[in-house]
Amino acid sequence: MSLKSFASDNTSGVHPRILAAMERANAGHARPYGQDPYTEQAKEVFARHFGPDIDMYFVFLGTAANVLGLRAVTRPWHSVVCADVAHINVDECGAPESVTGSKLQVIPSHDGRIRVMDVVPLLHMIGNFHHSQPRVISITQSTELGTVYSPAQIRALADFAHANGMLLHMDGARLANAAAALDVSLAALTRDAGVDVLSFGGTKNGMMFGEAVIFFNPELSREFNFIRKQGMQLISKMRFIAAQFIEMLHDGLWLENARNANAMARLMADSLRGLPHVTITRPVEANAVFARLSPEHIARLQQDFYFYEWDPVLHEVRWMTSFDTTEEDVREFTDAVKALG
Ligand SMILES: Cc1ncc(COP(=O)(O)O)c(C=O)c1O
Repeated sequence: MSLKSFASDNTSGVHPRILAAMERANAGHARPYGQDPYTEQAKEVFARHFGPDIDMYFVFLGTAANVLGLRAVTRPWHSVVCADVAHINVDECGAPESVTGSKLQVIPSHDGRIRVMDVVPLLHMIGNFHHSQPRVISITQSTELGTVYSPAQIRALADFAHANGMLLHMDGARLANAAAALDVSLAALTRDAGVDVLSFGGTKNGMMFGEAVIFFNPELSREFNFIRKQGMQLISKMRFIAAQFIEMLHDGLWLENARNANAMARLMADSLRGLPHVTITRPVEANAVFARLSPEHIARLQQDFYFYEWDPVLHEVRWMTSFDTTEEDVREFTDAVKALG
């Protein structure tokens, strides 16, 4: 029984081509723990997108990609500077702090983005042994509020981080949506913009499971094989993550999926803008629409559609679209919203 959902892009199923790729990878036996031919091929495919000298590791979860990626580049007296709305701050149950031992140094965001000027006030801590030492700036692309950082905004943060002995981490659970929105390559938003460590998401863009941790400086990943195993994310049947990523990346399925999700969010926002009982609250730049409605209207809509209140105090909701959201899905939903007025 299908759920009518705009709650998240992880309520969607798996793209049929991804399932078919997993089925093909299911032939016979293969060496475990990433020593299989699929993982080898995936490394080549990733190198084509992100550059030849990257170091790339598969994990199951986006949370694990973030936490273990940060674990690789921090010591317990470091801090990780991030936005108040960052997934690592809000939605990872304290795992970044618990696993890395490092403090999260939270700063206010502007529609999900942080700026160099918001990090500057933390510089006085550097070298003072009473304070956690800012070591990493972590940003999310696309952001938790459905906005995107331009390559120049990322470059500014990277240059600032590097000039002050810090690194730039990117939670790219929805990097594909950002690249599709800006019509730039995956490398333009990461390697070319100075990102040091990237969590690259697959699950939200049509895979069954699987994320990649990518290091753009192999010096940073020297111990990651041990960190991943100790972090319980070394998958024995790794070929099934590799096969999904190969299918996603080898001929542009990632872009097709992300473009559809973004286009459906734009369609939704355009259909709702101007209604007296709905306020679109954030710029719609990727695949999320944020809006404010009355609590009664939210409850009425939730009888037929699955989504939740992002901010129960302000009655702000988040509606997310997916790789498989259709115009008809959006029309059915926006007709229901219009009928409330
Ligand atoms: C911005 C962001 N980062 C990371 C994740 C990773 O989540 P999970 O651990 O559920 O795969 C999510 C999932 O909602 C997310 O929205």
